[in-house]
Amino acid sequence: MIGILDSGVGGFSVMREIRAQLPEQSLTYIGDTAWCPYGNKEFSEIRDRTLALSDFLINKGAETIVIACNSATIVAIEELRSRHCIPFVGMEPGVKPASELTQTGTIGVLATEASLAGEKFHSLVATHAQDLRVITQPCPKFVEFVERGILEGDQVNQAIDEYTSSILAANADVFILGCSHYPFLRPALEARLPDHIQFIDTGSAIARRVSRQSLSTPEQNEVDFLTTGDPKEFSRLCGILIPELPSACQHFILP
Ligand code: DGL
Repeated sequence: MIGILDSGVGGFSVMREIRAQLPEQSLTYIGDTAWCPYGNKEFSEIRDRTLALSDFLINKGAETIVIACNSATIVAIEELRSRHCIPFVGMEPGVKPASELTQTGTIGVLATEASLAGEKFHSLVATHAQDLRVITQPCPKFVEFVERGILEGDQVNQAIDEYTSSILAANADVFILGCSHYPFLRPALEARLPDHIQFIDTGSAIARRVSRQSLSTPEQNEVDFLTTGDPKEFSRLCGILIPELPSACQHFILP
């Protein structure tokens, strides 16, 4: 079984890619909705939650764990890898692909406060974007909207304008969707921003990395959803965000 975790429903954007590339695998998804958002929390709190959720998935039999959350990856992936012998696949803002795509030499990075403050993010920029202008912007309202299943409309457009106008004014031509929640707003972003703007979302690259792990093929390709929040609301969001998957969800409490 592949375990997938996120602060809430954002990791569905990665899960749908994993499901598309590895339809034979069983997946267990945990959304830590009771603690969502992670992006404005202290590193120590994000770390503790991520470690505890990973332990839970390992006890449930996960062979590989996907940290479908940039903030949790940036804060905790190294410690997870040093503590456990199973593979952990994490995600981080796609600075490298953005640097290869930009024509203007300016890129916008939309990500959480925690991700943008992390050492790992700074080293990504130093490695791949040293000669570029990199403009960062936390977008907490995007997480709130996706957690409510709101993917378009006036309030979404207002938030898009608020978060992107100064980056556009600086002549950026590539925007990194550096938080797993944001790809659900990509259609709204594409409709609102000029046509020449390109977006980087690392979901399918993460799924390709997962597919390179050695995984046993289970007899039934089950999909389980667990949340620390309200399971009914979580199921409703599954229906909106990943309608192709069964949406039954259970509540769980971290031991
Ligand atoms: N989806 C997460 C990320 O990729 C965190 C969003 C949040 O909880 O603030 O960073």
